[in-house]
Amino acid sequence: MSKNPVCELYGIRYPLVMGGITPKPELGAAVSNAGGLGCIEGIAPLDQMREQIRRFRELSDKPFSINFPLAMGNPEQVQERAKIVIEEKVPAVITSAGSPKILTGMLKEAGVIVAHVVAGISHARKAAAAGVDALIAEPTESGGYRGANEISMMVLIPAVRRTLPDLPLIAAGTVADRAGLVAVMALGADGVQLGTRLVVTKEAEGSYGDHVNKLILAADDTSTMSADGRIRPRISKPEFAEAVLGTSSKRTQMGQVSALIDKVVTVDEVFKELFEGGEEHAQSVADRLKQLTRVGQTA
Ligand SMILES: Cc1cc2nc3c(=O)[nH]c(=O)nc-3n(C[C@H](O)[C@H](O)[C@H](O)COP(=O)(O)O)c2cc1C
Repeated sequence: MSKNPVCELYGIRYPLVMGGITPKPELGAAVSNAGGLGCIEGIAPLDQMREQIRRFRELSDKPFSINFPLAMGNPEQVQERAKIVIEEKVPAVITSAGSPKILTGMLKEAGVIVAHVVAGISHARKAAAAGVDALIAEPTESGGYRGANEISMMVLIPAVRRTLPDLPLIAAGTVADRAGLVAVMALGADGVQLGTRLVVTKEAEGSYGDHVNKLILAADDTSTMSADGRIRPRISKPEFAEAVLGTSSKRTQMGQVSALIDKVVTVDEVFKELFEGGEEHAQSVADRLKQLTRVGQTA
């Protein structure tokens, strides 16, 4: 059986990548120890970021990434951060919310694996031209930086796959369970990037204010909206926060997938839910498709 391109690229067991959702290393180390690619959101001051990298290494000897949301900070600042990545020999970087030209060349020259978050075909082409090793495609449903065009997962993954068939492709968002994983793989993704599901884990405790878990756990399919501005992350609606917290002044980034998340679990449980029994689930989907073929033949 051929190997999974995301596992091959990063040297990890499961094609599960953590998004840049917290600068604290504990959650990322748990993800890497469980067999995925943990992440440190690279937004802390330079010395602090270096300490976070070193702390991560005390907690895990497995591969991990640093995420640079490029819109946060000017290109010079971002390059200073990237120099620390190189000095500390961090194996991978995920860039998002900005031009892939800013860091890709410099990082690749130093042997760092670079993936870029894209929200449409034109972004994907630019990232490929910049020389990235993988694409992370983030649709409108996700809890992240989804671009202005609001393209859905069902269209984004096949469209990017057709445009750039040879680059490893990671679907960011809409996944909290096995059915979601099977669905994005069926669309053409090689793996997943998780955000919201990992926020509501035991290992993430202490990374976010209490309101974050409360909002995600209480959410239904109507609880999120696009934030204003250029990057427009998906956030909790003010009227939903008012109903849950008694105030509309608190909010969080959260994906539509919040509607499927109703308890705090461990990172290991997330992996178990996604990867144990996946083959049976895929088989049951294949059986249903076979049934359709038979219906077609008798019609
Ligand atoms: C609380 C929160 C903070 C996030 N911050 C960032 C960030 O700084 N940089 C980034 O690239 N993505 C960020 N994201 C997006 C995630 O990395 C991931 O791509 C996204 O959450 C996937 O969609 P999902 O929430 O439906 O799983 C954030 C997501 C959440 C929920």
